[in-house]
Amino acid sequence: MEHLQTQGISLPRLGLGTFRMQGDICRAAVESALGLGYRHLDTAEMYGNEDAVGAAIATSGIPRKELHITTKVWHENLAPDAIRRAFDGSLNRLRLDHVDLYLVHWPSRNMNLPAIFETLLKLKQEGRTRAIGVANFNLALLKTAVEEIKAPIACNQVEYHVMLDQTKVAKYLAAKSIPLVAYAPLAQGRVASDETLISIGRKHGASAAQVALKWLLDQDSVAAIPKTSRAESQRANLDALKLKLDDEDRKAIAALPKDKRFVNPGFAPGWD
Ligand SMILES: NC(=O)c1ccc[n+]([C@@H]2O[C@H](COP(=O)([O-])OP(=O)(O)OC[C@H]3O[C@@H](n4cnc5c(N)ncnc54)[C@H](OP(=O)(O)O)[C@@H]3O)[C@@H](O)[C@H]2O)c1
Repeated sequence: MEHLQTQGISLPRLGLGTFRMQGDICRAAVESALGLGYRHLDTAEMYGNEDAVGAAIATSGIPRKELHITTKVWHENLAPDAIRRAFDGSLNRLRLDHVDLYLVHWPSRNMNLPAIFETLLKLKQEGRTRAIGVANFNLALLKTAVEEIKAPIACNQVEYHVMLDQTKVAKYLAAKSIPLVAYAPLAQGRVASDETLISIGRKHGASAAQVALKWLLDQDSVAAIPKTSRAESQRANLDALKLKLDDEDRKAIAALPKDKRFVNPGFAPGWD
């Protein structure tokens, strides 16, 4: 598995998303993914599944340093003392003494960005998160974080898939050598029924979902975190890395309408 190097951490380019999985289903899905070779797990306090993710990690027996664990602080907890409480809760539920990446999950209208990053950086200095980052930051917020505050963010996690244009944000991140972590990389499963992707997949003996994932992972500095509870889809998503798309495929995917956003980062004024 290829990794992206960012702010001192090594991020596996394909990870397992865990949104909308909880309890035993989540635990079993994470155990299965770890068994198949996944080493990057994406969770959040808001998902209500850090305990299940932590239980799966604990029983896996995989050395901690081989795993990359991302979790996130919810937008209601962005005051400095609230971040600390949220972070302690996340670590306890995950049964870990540190995470690899701690993200601001959503921007909020009244957030104090300098104070937020100061708090996150303290957690980093204390060795309790190896890196910090953001999610759902539009170009304006990214510029504030990177150029004004000079926060050492290791990624921006945003919705990105074959049906949504993210050129502006992706170009900015690439120019600053900051990875883009694509969430909802399968457009929440919708790519599976897209005729263009199905026909490209047929040509290569692959599925539409595999085509959609490889299109993302062929882009420099992009990682992806598809969610699936099913072992066969977890394996298929790993196997997508072996697929070789050609120019004709890329042209057909480029021509798909790219105006479909399925998650609304409503707290970020002027998202574009
Ligand atoms: N930072 C944020 O604000 C934010 C927002 C949204 C999501 N995320 C993160 O990103 C992760 C991924 O996003 P998502 O879960 O919304 O959507 P997604 O990964 O694009 O799609 C998940 C859906 O695709 C299906 N699927 C997965 N692999 C497949 C395959 N090989 N073939 C066919 N169908 C397949 C899954 O079905 P089954 O489960 O039935 O297999 C599930 O219904 C989340 O789990 C979460 O960790 C972050």
